Amino acid sequence: MSRTILPGATLGMLGSGQLGRMFAVAAKRLGYRVHVFSPDKDSPTGQIADLEVQANYDDLDAVAAFAQDVDVVSYEFENVPVDMLETVERYAPVYPGGHVLHTAQHRIREKTFLQSAGIPVTPFHAIHSAEDLQKIGNADVPGVLKTATLGYDGKGQIKIESVDELKAAWQELNCDEAVLERWVDFDSELSVVAARGHDGTTEFYGPIANSHSNHILDISVTPTGLPESVANEAIEIARTIMTELNVVGVLCVEFFLASNGKLLVNELAPRPHNSGHLTVDAHVTCQFEQQVRAICGLPLGATTQPRPSAMANLLGDLWQNGEPDWERAIAVSDLKLHLYGKQEARVGRKMGHLTVMADTPDEAAKKARAAREALVNNSPS
Ligand SMILES: Nc1ncnc2c1ncn2[C@@H]1O[C@H](COP(=O)(O)OP(=O)(O)O)[C@@H](O)[C@H]1O
Ligand SMILES: [Mg+2]
Repeated sequence: MSRTILPGATLGMLGSGQLGRMFAVAAKRLGYRVHVFSPDKDSPTGQIADLEVQANYDDLDAVAAFAQDVDVVSYEFENVPVDMLETVERYAPVYPGGHVLHTAQHRIREKTFLQSAGIPVTPFHAIHSAEDLQKIGNADVPGVLKTATLGYDGKGQIKIESVDELKAAWQELNCDEAVLERWVDFDSELSVVAARGHDGTTEFYGPIANSHSNHILDISVTPTGLPESVANEAIEIARTIMTELNVVGVLCVEFFLASNGKLLVNELAPRPHNSGHLTVDAHVTCQFEQQVRAICGLPLGATTQPRPSAMANLLGDLWQNGEPDWERAIAVSDLKLHLYGKQEARVGRKMGHLTVMADTPDEAAKKARAAREALVNNSPS
């Protein structure tokens, strides 16, 4: 039986981006110490953590030394290499556990698990070799070919309109395994962020409605205004996943709400999620504090949300005319600005986000978009 890890202990974080940063903020607020491991220096997480260990993920001596110094470990990305994970596990517990990572870091395993748990997923074919492309017929397209591993923010996936385009897409992806998913004609995309403790208790955020731009999350809003039956079904699916996979920690379920009204699971992320960033300001306990509580064996916190809320991502694109006009954002007195401390603003790179609250979800979304537009620096530099 795992022990409770109380404030004052040291938490280890694998990966040093914004998810690790917000985890570190939540952990520090609760009085924990945080060590972070990644190949980067002066990283978003390292700027907050007590110790930033800079080493490659395949430097297993450095991994072992890191793990010996911490009481428990979590991660902020699902592509944690297997030998790294095994090394960490020799010295400290890792949550969510290795079996969760193994499933969620590979699209074929993930979809196969979901199907076996009776959960509806996007129709798909597993592609292990060029021969498997022969199985694809006109009923399977339009579709999207996705690498089985390492994809994020729409990277590692190619949309195909017809069977003829399949071969070129497979060659372009140049990977060992992939899935071909049928293109889903959806009304909306939703997510549920779930937390589960050592004792099996669960808490949920959402559903949260997500709109994407260029395959990258753009705006998240909650509540969604969808019928209660849809919201309840999404949460029950998330509950089943948490229980069947025996997750300890935080995991996000991404859904499509298809135009026929059916919920389909798109993918899982075994960590806090971009769509859950609004919980930092809009909910009594945020997804990152929930991650700390869950991995430490503390009771989970309340997920009550006093007011409708919206979050807008701030991508590097906003920097195209120079530094955004932060004073205009700060001037909106109830707006919460989050910047991740990244030095270089590249197109499509997540640099920060902003969160607003309002009386209705629509109003919150409008306010978030307007605030983001006001940030664009219009004065020629
Ligand atoms: N089968 C599909 N049908 C329609 N849209 C899709 C499909 N698969 C992906 N998309 C779009 O691309 C986005 C990113 O795809 P996803 O599989 O979630 O990969 P990742 O988030 O890892 O980049 C989705 O949120 C959705 O907007
Ligand atoms: Mg996704």
